Amino acid sequence: MNDGPGAFGFPHKHLLGIEGLNPIEITALLDRAESYVEQNRQADKKKAVLSGRTIINLFFEDSTRTRTSFELAGKRLGGDVINMSVATSSVKKGETLIDTAMTLNAMHPDVLVVRHPDSGSVKLLSEKVNCAVINAGDGQHEHPTQALLDALTIRRRMGKIQGLRVAICGDILHSRVARSNIHLLTTMGARVRLIAPRTLIPTGIEHMGVEVFNDMREGLEDCDIVMMLRLQKERMDGNYLPSVREFFHFFGLDYAKLEGAKPNALIMHPGPMNRGVEIDSEVADDFGRSAIHEQVEMGVAVRMAALEILTANLEEHLQRNL
Ligand code: NCD
Repeated sequence: MNDGPGAFGFPHKHLLGIEGLNPIEITALLDRAESYVEQNRQADKKKAVLSGRTIINLFFEDSTRTRTSFELAGKRLGGDVINMSVATSSVKKGETLIDTAMTLNAMHPDVLVVRHPDSGSVKLLSEKVNCAVINAGDGQHEHPTQALLDALTIRRRMGKIQGLRVAICGDILHSRVARSNIHLLTTMGARVRLIAPRTLIPTGIEHMGVEVFNDMREGLEDCDIVMMLRLQKERMDGNYLPSVREFFHFFGLDYAKLEGAKPNALIMHPGPMNRGVEIDSEVADDFGRSAIHEQVEMGVAVRMAALEILTANLEEHLQRNL
């Protein structure tokens, strides 16, 4: 990523990951997002910040909330948003990722929002185009706007991030959400615990500054935040678990396991949820404790902030030919 003074204190041209961002840059994004939360609750949600700008959503993987919220975010700021899904694009006819990106680049978009099943692919693409690029999830690598919306939710509910004890539970191995959250939360001074069966913990993950547990009761003790992850069966090419029933028995979040966490511990899940697999339905729907819908709401505000800031930075980066 390229440094410069940048809009709102965020100097980078792209948002490819949380890794490498410092607390000031993360806070800049969160603060700008915060300013959109109230606006999104008003009857008139429109602004003209991105008037005349073009955003292309390029999704090579399925998505409900991420794609929709990028679309809403772009439209609420007055930009033109185009959704490209692979099922209807030339990729099905054999065009490569880079050819597709170059073709879209020739139409002068301002921002490309890209989701792709291969880790590292979005960075590669960002090196070939002139516009700003936002990573909306690349394989098992990063999903920066998810970590930012999680952080905004935590900050609003708990008043801070620093010093909180956060448990991230379940399929860590296949989760880009876990990786981006680990980077963000440790950078912002939270203490992160990972709780999962051994088969779903990447080797060497302790080097990211986290503590690893293989037992929910031990791991959840005294936690402020309990973040559950979806069991990502589509990324599993072998047998990672004896059975889904057994996984729920040992690692699914229910009230019994939650007892070890702090009494006011916040329950989070990036969605989509598998009820009865990683989370009990009653716990997921416990409005007092679950922030799952608030996470979705914060997603729009965070994506508005990211689109606004990167678009504002674009001119400067292009002038400097970076
Ligand atoms: C996540 C993703 O796609 O990485 N979902 C999301 O963006 N809300 C998590 C998941 O698919 O389990």
